[in-house]
Amino acid sequence: MSRSCIFLLLLLSISVQAVPKVIYLTQFSSIGTITVSVESGAHVYLASNDDNQLLKNIQLTSGGTTITCDRLGDSNDDESPKFLTTSSSLELSTSNNDSITYMLSGYIYITTNQQARDPTFSVYVLKTTQSISKIGMMSTVVVLNTRLNQVSIDNDAPRMTSYVTNINHSPNTNLYFQWGIPDFDWNDVTNNTHTFFMNPVFSQNGLNVFFPNIEPLQIKLDYWYITSMGPFNMDLENRYVSDHKYTTTSVNTTGLIVSGENKPYDEHVVNFQTDNSREGISGTYVSAFISNDLLISMTGVSNFINRSSETQNLGWALAAPTRLTINSTSPVPGTFYCQYFAFTGELLPTTTAGPTTVTQTTPSTVGQVTSTAPVITTTKGAFTGFGAMELLILLFSVFLYRLF
Ligand SMILES: *[C@@H]1O[C@H](CO)[C@@H](O)[C@H](O)[C@H]1NC(C)=O
Ligand SMILES: *[C@@H]1O[C@H](CO)[C@@H](O)[C@H](O)[C@H]1NC(C)=O
Ligand SMILES: *[C@@H]1O[C@H](CO)[C@@H](O)[C@H](O)[C@H]1NC(C)=O
Ligand SMILES: *[C@@H]1O[C@H](CO)[C@@H](O)[C@H](O)[C@H]1NC(C)=O
Ligand SMILES: *[C@@H]1O[C@H](CO)[C@@H](O)[C@H](O)[C@H]1NC(C)=O
Repeated sequence: MSRSCIFLLLLLSISVQAVPKVIYLTQFSSIGTITVSVESGAHVYLASNDDNQLLKNIQLTSGGTTITCDRLGDSNDDESPKFLTTSSSLELSTSNNDSITYMLSGYIYITTNQQARDPTFSVYVLKTTQSISKIGMMSTVVVLNTRLNQVSIDNDAPRMTSYVTNINHSPNTNLYFQWGIPDFDWNDVTNNTHTFFMNPVFSQNGLNVFFPNIEPLQIKLDYWYITSMGPFNMDLENRYVSDHKYTTTSVNTTGLIVSGENKPYDEHVVNFQTDNSREGISGTYVSAFISNDLLISMTGVSNFINRSSETQNLGWALAAPTRLTINSTSPVPGTFYCQYFAFTGELLPTTTAGPTTVTQTTPSTVGQVTSTAPVITTTKGAFTGFGAMELLILLFSVFLYRLF
């Protein structure tokens, strides 16, 4: 083997080892031990509310240390989750038989060494409630959900979810919610291609609106993460609230509808509080991986996604929002994330008429897997351009964007 070939193999094995991982307990088999290559000094967490009598039959070993899952699933006195620090490999074994194993809901999460050492990087396991409070100028928070304890009659209730309330941060703090787990190079790509929710809502060509009022957010995913460029607080609960028909709590607000991979989905409708005496903006920020068809319509404007995907697709209209509907002809349309926002500006000028403003939106910078870019059309033709400063800037930037 040539030297460069050995070098390449070495490089490959290093980069492979640095990848953070999630492994479900159902992947453990009674037949033998699974060996996972991990970096030394990585942290291993367990997110599970399975029965401790079953978890204690599952063993994790790294270097000289062995811990059973019932103990790994504990929390420390300060409520932070326990973790195992790895040597070069991690061995997983179980004495549960396979029929027991297939019923488990939990999973283990393995960070990289760099993440384990980073004081701005933290992990929360959501079993009941958690309050998150970060004061740093930069933080990454991984949220590991566990199976819901409640029984819901909803056909499309998630298996795991975080119910997020009391989000509190300043307009100077960019806050992002992202799907998946932070990659090994998460620090280089913060506001990256996995973002499904942001506040302020901003785009390259002008929109920049901070929402002090955020609706309760249901993150119907097994795990997700937050990156923040400044201090923030929020409360998380392991709780599902039926939200097929929802009414917003303020005229200036933002919220979210998520449906996870291979999950059943029924129509969701959001009704907006409106103030007809003022100018309005309505918009959506959509990432979707759709295996059948999905229709997202807000204020009379439609984004139809059929067997395709789009990411970070931001669209807005200069129109007061009335209603958002997300539906599909399929009971299992695919994965999607839809942040919606509604904003009311200055009082409407008394003059009427004027041309209908058509805002052609562009997806933000990164990771665009193009399908149908949504075209959002104002339903009211009355915008004359002398409203709030925000609306003015927005309108100019749309014009500028079209010129160049
Ligand atoms: C698996 O283990 C459970 C609990 O020990 C036992 O009740 C069940 O019969 C076992 N199933 C099989 C297929 O061995
Ligand atoms: C996006 O991320 C880049 C790189 O980390 C950073 O320089 C930039 O300020 C971020 N943009 C916003 C709006 O947060
Ligand atoms: C979605 O696309 C498929 C395949 O291209 C097509 O057969 C189907 O009719 C489309 N659905 C709708 C509602 O247009
Ligand atoms: C989805 O909602 C729109 C708007 O209410 C409606 O026109 C359409 O028929 C609905 N589609 C399905 C498949 O229910
Ligand atoms: C919504 O925001 C606009 C512009 O900042 C402000 O004038 C209006 O009072 C806000 N409305 C509410 C109910 O907060």
